[in-house]
Amino acid sequence: MCRQFLCMLGIAFTVVGISETPLRVQTASANTSPPGAMSAAEAYQNIQVLKEIPADQLVPAMQFITYSLGVECSYCHVEGALEKDDKKPKQTARKMMQMMAAINRDNFDSKQAVTCNSCHRGAPHPVATPIIAEGGPRPAFESVLGEDTSLTDAPPAEQIIAKYVEAIGGAAALQRISTRQEKGTINISGRNLPIEILSRIGGKQLTVIHLPNGDSITAYDGASGWTSAPNRPVREIPSVEVASAKPEVDLQLPLHIKQLFNEVKTAGTEKIGDRESYVVAGINSGEIAAKFYFDKESGYLLRILRYTKSPLGRNSTQIDYADFRTLNGLKVPFRKTIARPNSRLTVQIEDAEFNVPVDEKKFARPAVAPTPTRPSS
Ligand code: HEC
Ligand code: HEC
Repeated sequence: MCRQFLCMLGIAFTVVGISETPLRVQTASANTSPPGAMSAAEAYQNIQVLKEIPADQLVPAMQFITYSLGVECSYCHVEGALEKDDKKPKQTARKMMQMMAAINRDNFDSKQAVTCNSCHRGAPHPVATPIIAEGGPRPAFESVLGEDTSLTDAPPAEQIIAKYVEAIGGAAALQRISTRQEKGTINISGRNLPIEILSRIGGKQLTVIHLPNGDSITAYDGASGWTSAPNRPVREIPSVEVASAKPEVDLQLPLHIKQLFNEVKTAGTEKIGDRESYVVAGINSGEIAAKFYFDKESGYLLRILRYTKSPLGRNSTQIDYADFRTLNGLKVPFRKTIARPNSRLTVQIEDAEFNVPVDEKKFARPAVAPTPTRPSS
């Protein structure tokens, strides 16, 4: 069961970065240690398969399972006692992890080729038999040749990015900004809540959602990130999530896209709604880490699709930008929609201002409170 407040928080966290959930992750050691320092087996109580993975990649892996099966944490877990093996699907999931590792080892040079989603595709029970669709047969896939005509009529990535920089006001105007303050509302499952976003160059961003009983905060300090919420301890944002969120917290993204990746290159054209867009891919270690969609006509960035690595597969987050308005000579999107496989949230900015004085300390993690008495489960 998911109480209204906890559910909402779970969603709120998902908005702004961290893969959190309505269930409490109550492992004290995992919360207080620096990310990546411990293995999952050391940090948690009952890990039998994912023993070697860094502790801060366990929750991203759990998020991946949840998206792939189209379920909630409670499908496998007893709330308040995540280490327990009482539920059958949890036991099955362990076997599935082993099966998946064996398939990839034996057939795909241990690459992450087959994942939970390859079979499950958003359902607990994979469909083994090809279905007959209500609307008649789907058109067959074209031959591999002739598939990528979209690539040939797209300009090189450098050109698309240069047009973007010009379209939103030019490099000089971008270089003059150091902070931005935004105020507006966030729509979470039909409810509007006040939101404030404070950004600073150097990858610093503080997002505060005002909940009825206190603030939910997500912060990036340039190197790491943390979240806090009413009645919950401050938590680290997994380092894989921090890495993947870099483009969207960068106040001068247009000037930095190329630096954020080993390589950027044009990946064709695609339609977003009724807008034609050029797609530019950011590649790290030979893998697409993010895709940027630029309006063919206006040059504006309409969408970022980014991938967060996890030990079982990659989680995707899509941010759509709209309602572009001029502020200090720069075009700024006043609406963004953040979508994940199981959620969609819209932030509507009403008021924005550049170069407001910002206290650096705001982005820093609050001091850890002296060992709180944990509720017994
Ligand atoms: C389909 C089943 C399944 C779902 C859904 C699932 N988990 Fe898990 N979870 C597991 C399994 C299996 C393990 C043990 C992994 C192992 O033994 O290596 C585990 C372990 C954990 C642990 C470690 C607990 C401990 O102390 O031993 C945490 C924390 C956790 N999951 C959190 C979550 C969260 C949060 C969600 C929702 C986002 C979630 N899980 C969704 C199957 C699931
Ligand atoms: C090669 C295909 C394949 C892959 C990969 C796969 N599964 Fe499965 N999974 C199945 C099939 C088939 C079933 C049986 C479904 C049924 O009983 O209808 C199943 C069943 C399950 C069930 C039991 C569902 C229930 O409630 O009865 C869980 C939980 C599950 N898988 C989790 C996972 C997780 C987690 C992963 C990734 C680590 C994964 N699976 C990867 C094919 C796969």
